[in-house]
Formats: sequence, structure tokens, C-alpha cells
Amino acid sequence: MAKLLFEHNNEEVELPEDSPIAEACEEAGVPFACTEGVCGTCVIQIKSGKENLSEPTQEEKDFLGDGTLDERLACQCKIRNGSVKIAF
Ligand code: FES
Repeated sequence: MAKLLFEHNNEEVELPEDSPIAEACEEAGVPFACTEGVCGTCVIQIKSGKENLSEPTQEEKDFLGDGTLDERLACQCKIRNGSVKIAF
């Protein structure tokens, strides 16, 4: 199992490895709109463990740039394993 940690309330959600994080983020209060990586509504900050997320999708690269920022689109990324701490 992989773990998603939310900085705002210290909540922890366990997810199967290689699963999308969108649903857990939505339940934690991250706003979503297009769910297709186009609008940028679901942008989250990665506080730690960004290496445990899937490679940025083309949509994320188009929206967020070259990936040097610790930001991802919650509708696009998957958690691979380990733990990832996010803020929004
Ligand atoms: S919901 Fe639109 S980019 Fe994620």
C-alpha cells in the first residue's frame, strides 16, 4: 500500500500502489473541475515524496511547465508506493 498525507489536517489515506490520487484528494477537499488536466483547478503542492508519484503527464507539463516546481495536478497523477505529503 502507498500513503497519501494531507498537510492541512494531518490525515493519512492508504491507497493501492499505482492508483490515482484524485478520489482521495477530492474527499480531502481539493477542488476539481475538468478532471482532464486542462483547467488547473486541482493543482496541489507536493511537500515530500514527489519521487513516489507517477511521471507528469503531457497535460501536467503543458499546464505546470517543466516539472521543476513541486506542483502537480491531482486529477492526473498516481501514487506509486511509499508516502507523499500534499498541501492545497
Ligand atoms: S480538474 Fe482540471 S486540471 Fe485537474
